[in-house]
Amino acid sequence: MAILKIARMGHPVLLARAEAVADPTAPEIRRLVRDMIETMEDASGAGLAAPQVHVPLRLFVVRVNPERASGDAADTAVLPNAVVINPEVELLGDDVRLRWEGCLSIPGLRAAVPRSWRIRYKGVDTDGKPVGGEVTGFHAGVVQHEYDHLDGIMYPMRMQDFSLFGFNEELARVAAQQAARP
Ligand code: NI
Repeated sequence: MAILKIARMGHPVLLARAEAVADPTAPEIRRLVRDMIETMEDASGAGLAAPQVHVPLRLFVVRVNPERASGDAADTAVLPNAVVINPEVELLGDDVRLRWEGCLSIPGLRAAVPRSWRIRYKGVDTDGKPVGGEVTGFHAGVVQHEYDHLDGIMYPMRMQDFSLFGFNEELARVAAQQAARP
C-alpha cells in the first residue's frame, strides 16, 4: 500500500485522454486501485481518477458517504470505495443542476458546476465483474466529475458562472455568516 502523489492542475497528464485498461484483473491494476483508495481516503476525497496519480488509464475510484448523499431514492446512501474500470456514462434526461465540487488536483478551491442529476454508468471492477447502475444526485455528480478526468476535462472547463468559484475557507466563512443571521 502506498499513498500516491496527486497531479495538480497545470500538469499535462490531467489534460490527456486516458487509455482503456487492457486487463482489469491484472495484479498491477489491483495494486494501483488499492493505492488509489488509500490516497483518496488520506486526502479526504470522494473520488480519484487514475490520471490524477500520473497513470493515464481509464479507471477511477469513488466513495459516497452518507452525509454527502442527496436523500433522493436513487442516490446511493453509502458506496464504500468502489472502483470503475473502463467506464461508460450516459446522461439521462434534461435535469441539470448546479453542484458544488472540489477536486484533489485543485486543492483549496470549489465551484458550482452544472451536472446531470440522473445518469446511468457501467464498467467493471478488478475481478472483471460489472459495476454501476442508474444513480442520481451526489453519486451521479461524482461519477461525472471522475469520468471527465479520463477525457482530460477539469471541472473549471464545465463552469458557466465564475462568480460561484472560490476558496473553501472563504466560502465557509460566508456560509457561516449567513447561517448566523437572525
Ligand atoms: Ni477531480
